[in-house]
Amino acid sequence: MEIGALNPSDVLAHARPANVPEDRVFDFDIYRDIPEGIDFHQFWFDLMKTVPHPLMWTPHNGGHWVSLRGEASDVVMSDSERFSNHTVLVPKETAGEAYRLIPLSLDPPEHRPFRNLLNENLGPKPLKPMEGAIVDLTVELIESFASKGECNFVHDFAEQLPVTIFMMLVDLPLADLPKLKHLADQFTRPDGSMTYPEVLTAFRDYLTPVIAERRNGGGEDMISRMVSSRIDGRELTDIEALNICTQVLVGGLDTVVNMLGFTFSYLARDQKLRQAIAADPALINDALLEFFRRFPVVSSAREVRDDVEFEGVTLAKGDMVMSPTIVVAMDTDAGEDPLDFRLNRPGRKHSTFGKGSHTCPGAHLARMEMKIVLREWFARIPEFRLADDAPLSYTNGIVGSVKPFRLVWDV
Ligand code: HEM
Repeated sequence: MEIGALNPSDVLAHARPANVPEDRVFDFDIYRDIPEGIDFHQFWFDLMKTVPHPLMWTPHNGGHWVSLRGEASDVVMSDSERFSNHTVLVPKETAGEAYRLIPLSLDPPEHRPFRNLLNENLGPKPLKPMEGAIVDLTVELIESFASKGECNFVHDFAEQLPVTIFMMLVDLPLADLPKLKHLADQFTRPDGSMTYPEVLTAFRDYLTPVIAERRNGGGEDMISRMVSSRIDGRELTDIEALNICTQVLVGGLDTVVNMLGFTFSYLARDQKLRQAIAADPALINDALLEFFRRFPVVSSAREVRDDVEFEGVTLAKGDMVMSPTIVVAMDTDAGEDPLDFRLNRPGRKHSTFGKGSHTCPGAHLARMEMKIVLREWFARIPEFRLADDAPLSYTNGIVGSVKPFRLVWDV
């Protein structure tokens, strides 16, 4: 695999900081695609086996640590005394600086009142009325291609359903979706078409009039409710309103799309599992738990508050530590054969939705959508497979993804 200790001249070229031991330096770039022919989670699993340390350091993206053990990753994500949310993206000076969004970039106790605004909008009760719309749209999309015997799963389905539902939740026009999705992707998987400040400015230009119109306008959509709320007895400032709305757009537009891609590209290759679910749809409940364990996608980071000893090295104040949720589920300490998909897996351990106070507020919506999709899909297309023999391709990044692939079935 494309990972190895950098040779000393490379190390010197990137000015390894004094607190980084030479044997912790590896050539790893989170924004580099997964090498062709290698599965996304296999890549991370192999990386964990290749690097004999719980933390490695890479000179890429401004230079940062990467946690490669489940326990270390969970601690970095949740211990706000040592690891701050002030910066959560690398490179710190560019992406990190632009992504000071609310509430992800806030530490407790400032985080809590803003987080409450999200919980009030994304919990089971406020989302209940959305259920019918999710079912209708799922059925409509599946039936638009079921009789053709094929679809591009990512373009025709995964990129349509969750984002359309999300645009309904925030009551924004579907016509704006391509633009917003492109912007959201620039934070998680930048393609070089825009600088980070340009992305932030574009979000602000888009959201400023929306917020001005909806503040105290009595609307029932998520943006109206959030920007009309009070925290600690006061209104949100303009910048707080912008930052929380941008955060919700970024969080809501990408993740379920990719979770669907991983889930269906796996199902297409596991005939036994497909047949089991088709014969007994009640298995979907347990399968869902295993899909969420088996396919974590997010690699977030934290900023070290003060010099601290951690996992055998000295982390310096201001260092960035990436703590991929992927390594929690792929750690053999968390359960045997983590790459295997197992119904009824005992004691499932994962942090797919994060760990600690920033644990994903969108998890309920994600679970609801995934469950409806599996149920409605299997009711209409119980048997399907990948159209091409070529191996799937994957992007890495803050949110990993499967590149578009086609499914076929008999009609
Ligand atoms: C399968 C789908 C999803 C996955 C795997 C996922 C994963 C995560 C993870 C790992 C975090 C924690 C990041 C950190 O601590 O640095 C997070 C936070 C967040 N997610 Fe999700 N997410 C998903 C769906 C969603 C959806 C649908 C929404 C919005 C509707 C959403 C909105 C957010 C927000 C706003 C935060 C920040 C919360 C805070 O700072 O308190 N997510 N998500």
